[in-house]
Amino acid sequence: MFVFRDKIYIEEIDSTNSYLKSLNAVDGTLLYTFNQTKGRGRENREWLNFKDKDLALSVLFVPQYPVENFLWHIAVFSLSLIDMLKEEGVENGWIKWPNDVYVGDGKIAGVLAESVWNGGVMEKLIVGIGININSDRDDLSAIDKKTTSVYIETNKFLSLNSFAERYVEKLERYFGVFFSDGGKKEIRKRWIDNNKLLGKRVEWIVCDKKYIGTIVDIDDDGYPALDDGVETRRVISGDIFLI
Ligand code: BTN
Repeated sequence: MFVFRDKIYIEEIDSTNSYLKSLNAVDGTLLYTFNQTKGRGRENREWLNFKDKDLALSVLFVPQYPVENFLWHIAVFSLSLIDMLKEEGVENGWIKWPNDVYVGDGKIAGVLAESVWNGGVMEKLIVGIGININSDRDDLSAIDKKTTSVYIETNKFLSLNSFAERYVEKLERYFGVFFSDGGKKEIRKRWIDNNKLLGKRVEWIVCDKKYIGTIVDIDDDGYPALDDGVETRRVISGDIFLI
């Protein structure tokens, strides 16, 4: 069993990840808001939340154990959301590598993991998710890629408090699995099952280069292998798009 040590709701904050990083908080502290004003995404992108419509939630880990790869911490956030979506009747949620959550071809959530190191030791790991809940098409038109929300998928406005509460319960259940014996293998399996990558033709964009090929494997660390007919490359950063 796993429970967060502290669950903090904050009315307004620039970024839940930044704030949690700056706090001297204990391992397993969770912080969330429905009004994040300066959210950050992967690759220094901006993450937009619409006031009192969406959820921004971050968790601080102070690892007492070596973290070789925190992809599986991140996977817990996406898998918990896929389960939540199913409960709302949205069956076609899937994980886009590394850990965006999509419904059909619209992005509904993104996860950002950040770490703080001292010498060779990871002192803090902060994982945060932004979930589009009640934002509508008008709100999301401010974003330059195809985006969706729980409201758009279901036509129902949800109670943000109840959504956050249920999502936190899901996270606790999945982290319970994660921290149990063999838990990371189980998370990896479920992550791969919900990932649409294996065998798919994709475009991989990294450092202004573009590769086109087929994903022929996902290794034990969660990194896809892209075969472009000439060479097989391990994808460890950048963005992958299904084509
Ligand atoms: C992405 O898709 O690029 C990742 C987006 C991550 C956004 C979340 S919202 C909660 C946490 N706080 C932030 O500033 N960013 C993450």
